[in-house]
Amino acid sequence: MPSSSSSAPSAARPPLPKAELHLHIEGTLEPELAFALAARNGVTLPYATEDELRRAYSFSDLQSFLDLYYALMAVLRTEDDFADLAHAYLARAKEQGVRHAEIFFDPQAHTARGVPLGTVIGGLSRALDAAQETYGITTRLIMCFLRDESAASALETFEAARPYLDRITAVGLDSAEVGHPPSKFREVYALAREAGLKCVAHAGEEGPPAYVWEALDVLGVDRIDHGVRALEDERLVARLVADRIPLTVCPLSNVRLRVIDDLAAHPLPAMLDAGLLVTVNSDDPAYFGGYAHDNFTAVRDALGLDDAALRTLARNSFEASFLDEATRAAYLAEVDAYQGEADAH
Ligand code: HPA
Ligand code: ZN
Repeated sequence: MPSSSSSAPSAARPPLPKAELHLHIEGTLEPELAFALAARNGVTLPYATEDELRRAYSFSDLQSFLDLYYALMAVLRTEDDFADLAHAYLARAKEQGVRHAEIFFDPQAHTARGVPLGTVIGGLSRALDAAQETYGITTRLIMCFLRDESAASALETFEAARPYLDRITAVGLDSAEVGHPPSKFREVYALAREAGLKCVAHAGEEGPPAYVWEALDVLGVDRIDHGVRALEDERLVARLVADRIPLTVCPLSNVRLRVIDDLAAHPLPAMLDAGLLVTVNSDDPAYFGGYAHDNFTAVRDALGLDDAALRTLARNSFEASFLDEATRAAYLAEVDAYQGEADAH
């Protein structure tokens, strides 16, 4: 079931077609599935009921969320668990108009608990391989390094993932940002680029604009995840616009993690006005109160975005994706042909 503030769009009004580019698969673990997997695996959660767990979803900052996010992962143990998690996400994504999803996973959060990398990638791949046929959704997988772990651990993870690189499109960087600048991971990103992978990194969520510069200039990223703090640096905005570097913004996440005080004060309109290639995404939807379409609806209502702005965001999501050109063009044509009520209030 969706979390209380998330509502499934009605079948009569199909949501705008869109790509989800900032989605942590572990952040889609809904309380119902967490308890089901806990029972299946004989894991005891430190919460008696789903409601009690939901009440813990009140965060003061990124770290307070990460503490719960990593704790709940204890229920993910087998290949079936990872496949079930991804299937549950894809079923919801379909309802939300998601046509393409580029999905993060955190290998170190699992290998550190003794779950082999092959179990994680095997389970996720099983669901993603069926995604097009079962849900009509194309997918890519992005392997993230935990930036609060060492550079050596990221290198070790990358080497362990070499047998699976044909299933991985890009590497990313997530977890606690402040104090862990992108430059710490220069070497592993160079290896990833040499191996032909795309590169993304979380930067400018809680960290300063300097971290966004480093992600661009030291890591050579193709996209910035979050990047809302880039607006504090005019030269940086000019650079992002000139190089058409996409920013995967996550509005409900920003409010829940107190990156932004209030959705009505979100800089998304300013980012669009600045000419940034900005997209709207859900980050960790089980924890932050909404999936992809819920984020679109929330910014529409709080910021008064009109139909044209919503279509721009949907177009941007495909423009910013790692799709091949033919598939990208087909999805863009779907957005252009969309007859739904993108601006319905
Ligand atoms: N920021 C950093 N790390 C994360 C996030 C996030 O929003 N979600 C999951 N890991
Ligand atoms: Zn994220």
